Amino acid sequence: MFNRILKLGELTVPHAIIQGGMAVRISTASLAGAVASQGGIGVIAGTAMTSEELRNEIMQAKRLAGGNGAIGINVLFAVKNFAELIKTALKTGIDIVFSGAGFSRDVFSWGKQFNVPVVPLVSSGRLAKIAEKLGAAAVVAESGQAGGHLGTNRPIEEILPEVKAATNLPVIAAGGIVDGYDIYRMEQLGADGVQMGTRFAASRESNASEYFKQLYVNSRPTDTVLIKSPVGLPGRALRNAFVDKLLSGASIEIEACDDCLKNCKRNFCIKKALENAQKGTGTNRLVFAGQKVYTIKKILSVEEIFDKLKKEYSAIASQSEHPPKPGEILSPDPFSATCNHFQKNS
Ligand SMILES: Cc1cc2nc3c(=O)[nH]c(=O)nc-3n(C[C@H](O)[C@H](O)[C@H](O)COP(=O)(O)O)c2cc1C
Repeated sequence: MFNRILKLGELTVPHAIIQGGMAVRISTASLAGAVASQGGIGVIAGTAMTSEELRNEIMQAKRLAGGNGAIGINVLFAVKNFAELIKTALKTGIDIVFSGAGFSRDVFSWGKQFNVPVVPLVSSGRLAKIAEKLGAAAVVAESGQAGGHLGTNRPIEEILPEVKAATNLPVIAAGGIVDGYDIYRMEQLGADGVQMGTRFAASRESNASEYFKQLYVNSRPTDTVLIKSPVGLPGRALRNAFVDKLLSGASIEIEACDDCLKNCKRNFCIKKALENAQKGTGTNRLVFAGQKVYTIKKILSVEEIFDKLKKEYSAIASQSEHPPKPGEILSPDPFSATCNHFQKNS
């Protein structure tokens, strides 16, 4: 990805790395602007924002990007003000639109009016084909390992080749990508770019609370679980007292409802639970996270994350370009004359 220029419609960015949109208010201007300034695509999650708030976030992210990379917006198709938010973003000069957890014919025609590429998230070859017919500039193929709402439980190794075979569009892989080794692996599998959420949620510029970030860095391999979201989809989240309560089937009181979803299952208020987690307030806190969150042990700045990704990617890419010759020793040989490690300790 570091040697590849991603082309989406007429838009190009130096690094084919997209920071996935993360609601509610996890990916705001500070994160999106920092990712764009590194040459990637930074995405503001517009879900649950007002139009005015979204407009301000976009303008701030553009200032932080300083003309580098690109700024996108992601809005969940399930929210009632989807159309209003997308149109606000287009009028404010957004570079790219992502539609999460579903899409409509309309979003592609709005994008066309403003000459802005529209990229839906899909989880099968069938959906990718439909998106291509409707006018998508690319698709994000998201696996069941991803954080947030999920359209599948299948791994990326299955979905990516299926989506690649179904469409001629650029395909961006998402779900379970946290380091440069994963990025290299996705490139080998045919991805034209990657989208990463969890790694960027655990950054200094992410707008998540200290509670949220600490839950990430202290997590263990078995700590992400699937909950039933009021949106009507499963969602991957980290276990905490609230999620354990949800999994036990206990009823959760809805204190106030502002009727934000087109179709709400009303098993709990997801807007409030995501807001609580983002702010670190209240008791019902829903912390979305991808399956590989447990591998992240440090909150880094976006610049440090990019440096780390580049180093890891280069290390594995150069190893693959120069495979070892038969009999070649790649690591220091503890028994060689130049290594006295064993002698010293014996
Ligand atoms: C905290 C969090 C919130 C998310 N919110 C959204 C969202 O609002 N809309 C969306 O389309 N995807 C959302 N996602 C999915 C990401 O955009 C991205 O596709 C996903 O995180 C990739 O998988 P990874 O977490 O393993 O990197 C969210 C993910 C996380 C971790």
